[in-house]
Amino acid sequence: MKLDSKTSVITGGARGIGLAISRAYLEEGASVVIADVDQGAIDEVLATLEGEGHAASRLMGVRLDVCDRQAIDAMVASVTERFGGIDILVNNAAIFDMAPVLEVTEESFDRQFAVNTKGLFFTLQAVAKAMVARGRGGKIINMSSQAGRRGEPLVSVYCASKAAVISLTQSCGLSLIAHGINVNGIAPGVVDTPMWDEVDALFARFENRPLGEKKRLVGEAVPYGRMGRPEDHAGAAVFLASADSDYVVAQTLNVDGGNWMS
Ligand SMILES: NC(=O)c1ccc[n+]([C@@H]2O[C@H](COP(=O)([O-])OP(=O)(O)OC[C@H]3O[C@@H](n4cnc5c(N)ncnc54)[C@H](O)[C@@H]3O)[C@@H](O)[C@H]2O)c1
Repeated sequence: MKLDSKTSVITGGARGIGLAISRAYLEEGASVVIADVDQGAIDEVLATLEGEGHAASRLMGVRLDVCDRQAIDAMVASVTERFGGIDILVNNAAIFDMAPVLEVTEESFDRQFAVNTKGLFFTLQAVAKAMVARGRGGKIINMSSQAGRRGEPLVSVYCASKAAVISLTQSCGLSLIAHGINVNGIAPGVVDTPMWDEVDALFARFENRPLGEKKRLVGEAVPYGRMGRPEDHAGAAVFLASADSDYVVAQTLNVDGGNWMS
């Protein structure tokens, strides 16, 4: 097992890609803290994971809004108290919104940057401080997106928030490797999760399409031949959390069926 006796925190771990990564980490021997803003989803998912045979002693749920710095500090303290420290952080929580450039509101702009970029950065900072104080290094994985590689006409703000994640991954990776902390990222393509159902509904509205059409089209356009599934990201997330990636620093890995090359 690649993550035996490690403690991992997965923000936004209660569904979608974060949940698939949580399952993969449990299977590799790690303890998993699901840190999500949705308490009901946390309760449900903890019961499901226990029902699948994962020991309650290796599971923890924490209600966390990554925009709330006090809550981030409290999460770090409670995980440290329960498990002795944090070895792995997956900075996965994010929200999506879209609108034509001429219609983007300040509220939508601020909200996306608050969760996707600022929340990600200060979660990373708080966890990295605890990792440095503990002196055992660590692994931090930031979830970017193919949207961070290239702008899109209807998705300006989300794309920018995810491009910022790639940049933060570079700077934080270069800064923290001196402490034995690897900061890397994953850039998924189009993934069949609850988020993409929201994306599809917004495309239906702004491009005047029937529901489901955009999702079908983007899936067909992936070189691999289908949309991503949450579990398609598990291998990269395990790699970047394990000793196998010790010499990988400040990179963002495309896991997108061939949609983007960089
Ligand atoms: N689905 C895709 O096609 C796709 C593509 C590229 C990148 N991504 C990225 O992958 C990650 C996971 O995406 P997903 O599709 O699984 O998303 P999702 O919307 O299905 O799940 C996101 C989770 O984050 C939680 N969350 C939202 N705001 C939060 C906050 N303020 N604090 C804590 N938790 C919060 C939600 O409750 C939810 O459980 C995101 O960073 C997303 O931007 C997704």
